[in-house]
Amino acid sequence: MTRPSRITRLSTELANQIAAGEVVERPASVVKELVENALDAGAHRIGVSVELGGKRLVRVEDDGDGMTAEEAALALERHATSKIRRLEDLASITTLGFRGEALPSIASVSHLLLRTRARGASRGTEIRVSGGVTVSTREIGASEGTTFEMTDLFYNVPARRKFLKSDGAETTQVSRLVTQLALGHPEVGFSLTSGRRQLIQCPPAAGLQERLFQLYKDRDDLVEVRKQAAGITVTGFVAALAGPGQGPRRGPQNIFVNGRGVKDRTIGHAIVHAYSAATIKERSPEVHLFIEMPPDRVDVNVHPTKAEVRFLEQSLVHEVLRRAIGEALEQGPAPEIGLDPVAPAVGVGRGTVAGEGMAFGAGAPGPPGWGGASTLMGGVSGGFPADAAAHSIGDLVREMRPNTVAPAPVVDRPLQPLGQFRDTFIIAIDDEGIAIIDQHVAHERILFEQVMERLTAGALESQQLLMPMVIDLSAAERQALAAHGEALARLGFDVEAFGGDSLRVAALPAIVDVGACETALRALAQDLDGLDQGAAIDEALRHMAATTACHAAVKANDRLTPEKMVYLLDELRRTAHSSVCPHGRPVVLRLSRREIERRFERI
Ligand SMILES: Nc1ncnc2c1ncn2[C@@H]1O[C@H](COP(=O)(O)OP(=O)(O)OP(=O)(O)O)[C@@H](O)[C@H]1O
Ligand SMILES: [Mg+2]
Repeated sequence: MTRPSRITRLSTELANQIAAGEVVERPASVVKELVENALDAGAHRIGVSVELGGKRLVRVEDDGDGMTAEEAALALERHATSKIRRLEDLASITTLGFRGEALPSIASVSHLLLRTRARGASRGTEIRVSGGVTVSTREIGASEGTTFEMTDLFYNVPARRKFLKSDGAETTQVSRLVTQLALGHPEVGFSLTSGRRQLIQCPPAAGLQERLFQLYKDRDDLVEVRKQAAGITVTGFVAALAGPGQGPRRGPQNIFVNGRGVKDRTIGHAIVHAYSAATIKERSPEVHLFIEMPPDRVDVNVHPTKAEVRFLEQSLVHEVLRRAIGEALEQGPAPEIGLDPVAPAVGVGRGTVAGEGMAFGAGAPGPPGWGGASTLMGGVSGGFPADAAAHSIGDLVREMRPNTVAPAPVVDRPLQPLGQFRDTFIIAIDDEGIAIIDQHVAHERILFEQVMERLTAGALESQQLLMPMVIDLSAAERQALAAHGEALARLGFDVEAFGGDSLRVAALPAIVDVGACETALRALAQDLDGLDQGAAIDEALRHMAATTACHAAVKANDRLTPEKMVYLLDELRRTAHSSVCPHGRPVVLRLSRREIERRFERI
């Protein structure tokens, strides 16, 4: 007796609904697919409207190439695409779409209306699909381009509908997504309306900077990134070290690889590395980064939503990106003193602000004092870590202060100290103006860089105490220190438990004054205690370097000899990131010659 076959072929509709599970998660995913199609069709303007967070309606209109009647019918079928033809094409994708799955997936879980007219054609086509089944097709009059209208998402899949968030939350997702797509394609005009509210309105822009301005207004707290190496181009804007309220601004991380918005761990890691070399303040800085590389060096066919990529040379990408950001951060200029009520601007930001407040704009060379001098790095070739993700402590520290970061040699004439103001600020001059330097913060930055550099080479020099010192600590403080014995030893401390919560100190870093030892250790303990549990050792080390530097640095209200002032200014010139301290506080304020001359009406 033969039993009936248990295996049957799924209907096309059901197969599409299953595929939709991967691609269509929420209204924002529908927006993404439809807008990416419009971009692939060469649109100059794309209008997006949503109602009830896109659950009721998502409409995307474009003025792109449009489709003929025949193409329109095919476009809604599974595995139908104009973007690839054969397997080899997958290796060099230049379009955002290529799977031929988005439209049938969306159509299978909603009501979809398509109106389109191919460029040059006299008539247009309208197709209605419900739950994947074509309801009607007719010829219509339509403007060139394409409009998709999706209504009642998941009307036929109630289980999925339940997973949607509130209208407000879905609208936020859509808005974030359109913002990202608009950033990725400045030359295309975008608009987004939700109900009657206009959320985004950006006409076609000349470039990223203008698009950033359209979306975020003036941003003095971003610095420009621009680097080309090993066939990879990195451009964009990232949070400056001295952002609002100290430290780089936290914010969205928009990453584009060949125009495609992606999430990628290698890139995230490179960003963290670049910042960690310069500041202990921020772990999620705002970045808008564009990475361009030959399409055959990046695999985009990794995930159904196409938001992940695989780099052929992962560690190369990591390295180029880290250097690109690192160099940009070093170019952060000294904030200029505004003599009028206009607040002084920090960071490079937009280059269009002339006169007061800002001395130079994006892309302009830095100030001829210091800090603006860009680091001259050799080309990126060879010597990349085998795997950027796997590190020993040594690798980590070496990567934190890459020895390729040469001191800025561009500065011609040093600042000449005139004296101190309130024993706290050094007043100095050069040809370009007057500078006021916070002596403590400046020394702190110098020492931080030195400490990190020496850690790269191994350990810090330590000084043995003739008489070991015993320090009483709180239980939390002692535990915080005990948990980081190895890092303490590298910094030059020789400490051991001495019964109860006491600590016996036999040696300390040579740069720390014996008298400051106890305060430094307590500060270290508190700092370490405040770190997230299980924070990586590199982060602990960096924090310790900053704390050690802070406690070894000259203080406010310290009288300095002229020699010491000259020394500090000279060292500062040699120091990377010299315009801000590791905590993001400014080191120097400048009053430019131009400003002075303008004030005295000499020009
Ligand atoms: N707005 C549009 N303007 C012109 N043609 C379009 C538009 N949207 C879709 N098409 C055509 O319909 C085809 C199918 O679109 P669909 O989004 O389903 O697949 P795809 O974009 O090729 O690949 P993917 O599934 O990765 O998005 C596209 O290849 C394209 O030729
Ligand atoms: Mg598509």
